Amino acid sequence: MSASYRAIESLARQVRLLQIEDLPEVLDIERMGYSFPWAESVFRDCFRPNYRLWGVELSGELVGYAVVAYLVDEAHLLNICVSSRHRRHGFARYLLRYLVCEAAKDGMVQLILEVRESNQSAADLYLSEGFSEIGRRPNYYPSSSGREDARVLSLTLSGPDH
Ligand SMILES: CC(C)(COP(=O)(O)OP(=O)(O)OC[C@H]1O[C@@H](n2cnc3c(N)ncnc32)[C@H](O)[C@@H]1OP(=O)(O)O)[C@@H](O)C(=O)NCCC(=O)NCCS
Repeated sequence: MSASYRAIESLARQVRLLQIEDLPEVLDIERMGYSFPWAESVFRDCFRPNYRLWGVELSGELVGYAVVAYLVDEAHLLNICVSSRHRRHGFARYLLRYLVCEAAKDGMVQLILEVRESNQSAADLYLSEGFSEIGRRPNYYPSSSGREDARVLSLTLSGPDH
């Protein structure tokens, strides 16, 4: 990415809470992003008080989103996806840092997520942001060859960095 692109992008990038009206754009990104996308009904179920649906925009265009569930003092990152046209420009990292700060502000002490064993690029993002692997869920995801394990990653939110 060029320095000038990065400068323009940092000015125009913005995170906001999503509304039900944003679902068509979310579903477009979701369906292009995953071989096994969430159904619309799953997203609709996430518009509840203990969920946060964050969207990241570039000049007003939705380019990515994340879904976080709060359970007592533990946050669970259920989904994070960036439009294939806007990948490798730091949107996922930006969104992840944003939702981590918000979860800490909301009193969460830990953020947990699952990632497919084969999804090394997403795992690299999480590990570079301080997550560590705390376990595995065998056969957690459907895959083209049957089922695939999930790696369970965790980030501690309580502490001086948050
Ligand atoms: C994973 C995903 C969210 C990353 O979004 P992104 O905006 O492109 O990611 P960023 O530009 O913020 O990259 C952050 C880091 O992730 C890693 N990464 C992301 N895409 C990568 C790729 N294609 N190859 C290798 N590493 C990659 C790198 O470590 C990168 O850091 P770097 O740019 O300093 O090398 C995006 O590829 C995506 O939406 N994938 C489909 C949905 C998905 O798999 N979601 C995760 C579910 S657990």
